[in-house]
Amino acid sequence: MSYLPHCFVFVFIFLTARASAETTPQSIPPLMYGSAWYPEQWPEAEWDADLVRMQAAGLNMVRIGEFAWSSLEPAEGRYDFDWMERAVAAAAKRGMVTIIGTPTDTPPAWMTTKYPEILRVDETGARLQHGSRRHFSIGSEKYRQLCRAIVERLAVRFGKNPHVVAWQIGNEYTEDSFDPESRGRFHRWLEKKYGTLEALNQRWLPAYWSQTYTEWSQVPMTTGRANPGLLLEHKRFVTDTWRDFQRNQIDALRRHIEPRQLITTNLGGLGWASRFNRQHIAADLDVISWDEYLGSGWFDKTKNGTGHLDPLRSGATHDLVRGWRQQNFWVMEMPPGFVDWGSVNNSLDRGETRAMAWHAVGHGADCIAFWQWRSALNGQEQYHGALVGPDGEPVPVYAEAAQAGADFAKAGPVLAGTQPVSEVAVIHDYDSRWAIEFNPFSNRYDQMQILMDYYRALRGVTGAVDIVTPEMDLSRYKLVVAPSLNVVSPELATRLTDYVRAGGQLVLGPRTGMKDASNALNRERQPGPLLPSVGARVQQFYALLEDVPVAGAWGAGKATVWAELLDRVAADAEVTLRFGAGNDWLAGEPAAVRRSLGKGTISYFGAVVDSALMDELARRWVTEARVFTAGVISAPAGVKVSRRVGRDREVYVITNFSQAAQEISLPGAMTDVLADGHLEVAKVTLPRYGVAVLSRGMAR
Ligand code: GAL
Repeated sequence: MSYLPHCFVFVFIFLTARASAETTPQSIPPLMYGSAWYPEQWPEAEWDADLVRMQAAGLNMVRIGEFAWSSLEPAEGRYDFDWMERAVAAAAKRGMVTIIGTPTDTPPAWMTTKYPEILRVDETGARLQHGSRRHFSIGSEKYRQLCRAIVERLAVRFGKNPHVVAWQIGNEYTEDSFDPESRGRFHRWLEKKYGTLEALNQRWLPAYWSQTYTEWSQVPMTTGRANPGLLLEHKRFVTDTWRDFQRNQIDALRRHIEPRQLITTNLGGLGWASRFNRQHIAADLDVISWDEYLGSGWFDKTKNGTGHLDPLRSGATHDLVRGWRQQNFWVMEMPPGFVDWGSVNNSLDRGETRAMAWHAVGHGADCIAFWQWRSALNGQEQYHGALVGPDGEPVPVYAEAAQAGADFAKAGPVLAGTQPVSEVAVIHDYDSRWAIEFNPFSNRYDQMQILMDYYRALRGVTGAVDIVTPEMDLSRYKLVVAPSLNVVSPELATRLTDYVRAGGQLVLGPRTGMKDASNALNRERQPGPLLPSVGARVQQFYALLEDVPVAGAWGAGKATVWAELLDRVAADAEVTLRFGAGNDWLAGEPAAVRRSLGKGTISYFGAVVDSALMDELARRWVTEARVFTAGVISAPAGVKVSRRVGRDREVYVITNFSQAAQEISLPGAMTDVLADGHLEVAKVTLPRYGVAVLSRGMAR
């Protein structure tokens, strides 16, 4: 009699347990670790073997779908999402959550044949053909409708799937389009902004070279040597066009997905790309992610690569990305050893991939994902690094990825809720960046290099620096440094002055305030609307061929690349550096001034200087601003130390990128998080590419 009911109860419990496992939303692991995976490229019978290997390497996430449009909608209106649902379930069975990429980077061939108007047109007027990716026009309304249709259906199908934790919109926004529809959009965008052509003509001064426009349609769309006002507006237009291209999909997703599913996109272009304003793109997302390919692949076209990780540049890029939302971020793609698009696609050294992953975590990454899991048999990227070969068997770097997976499993709970904290910010402003790019005046003026030199010096003293746009919250920083803030509107000048009056220390570098928001010269000369606050004006700027000595209360060294002759207009503006002999225009003239304003100070620093002087200045500014430096662990050259702070603990991530083993003394006992048994240590010795993760409680 009692057997049946027992059996029934057992079956009931089993079924409800299964049901709840299938319906309980999976949370995002504290350190998410994953890979791009393309199940549509492989026989379904092989999926589980792939997933088992991922699980064995400690991966807990897969990102799928971002190029799969032709598999998701093989013919117009005929959707096939079943395979994707099975892939999500198969990954979940092996303990992995899924991020779904919307497939809008690769419209399928039936679509580009039927609707050729959705294809991108490059600046020469050539329409792209099918066969690669990014071949769509971001301005095409028809394309947006097609995107919305599939994204909406995906959202309905997967928006409540317990294993789907996030969505990635498209893939690495890159190319804008010059097709007639996009040009029309540009003209409507200008009309909306300026109201009348008279207003536009006045702001851009197109009387210059007969550029006066009498119809909106006459305004050219170009990236060539055009009117600076036009060029700046085009960049803003491209930003807004990407933004509403993205918004179209965010809206479609948000209508159907559960709030716990986050929306992101993966930004490429090695972080610093300036095609559009990335902070504005980030503002509409729940979390920001970027693709870190810095380091692997020696490529000589840009100065970004040496074939190995440059920890300074990599760290600054993470901090730049973090600054777009002033919060932790995800690394959605990282190469497993090497890429396929460099001049020489050399491999990272043994250990370097793991160190690179940890280095990102130190700077605030809460997710590390590889591109890609398995070498595709065909397609444009056959040579690219992967974790398993075309046969599905591990390649050598797999073991290193597995080591990082084991590390992350240990450290995830300790890092949960922690983030880098800085009292110092360096400003990276897209308008200014573009304005200088359009006309650098000296090709020796490498804005990013100059910014990086401030960053390097400041991080050396403080251990942590944020890189933010001027639109972000500055009140949280004791010291704000703006290396090349070329475009300054009256509103921005007010914001910065208010920051100083409230107690902030602001340092403005050369080229500040030359331009207004229309990229026209500020009539009052540099620093434009900031002049009354600074109490000094730039009499003349000089692109230098030869270095000029500078010396004063701030120290001594050389002005290189750029120098500005300053003229004090306020008696209380103290001259802190003067140019020495060597340049007839500059000798004996002020190179930097400093002034108290309200509770803070504002400085104008009219020179690019050598690294040693920059170090000296950074120490001085940090001391004057009373920036917290007690948490800084001093380490030998090549050893990177990052600190993440949580409610009750601080966690240090130390990575050794130097050539040799290094010993690092700690300022007290800390728990070695990666050691078995969580040892208490007072120093660590790290081999080349070695990693230590150390935590201790925070005294409150
Ligand atoms: C990224 C892209 C990936 C893959 C990778 C190769 O920029 O998002 O899809 O192409 O590059 O390095």
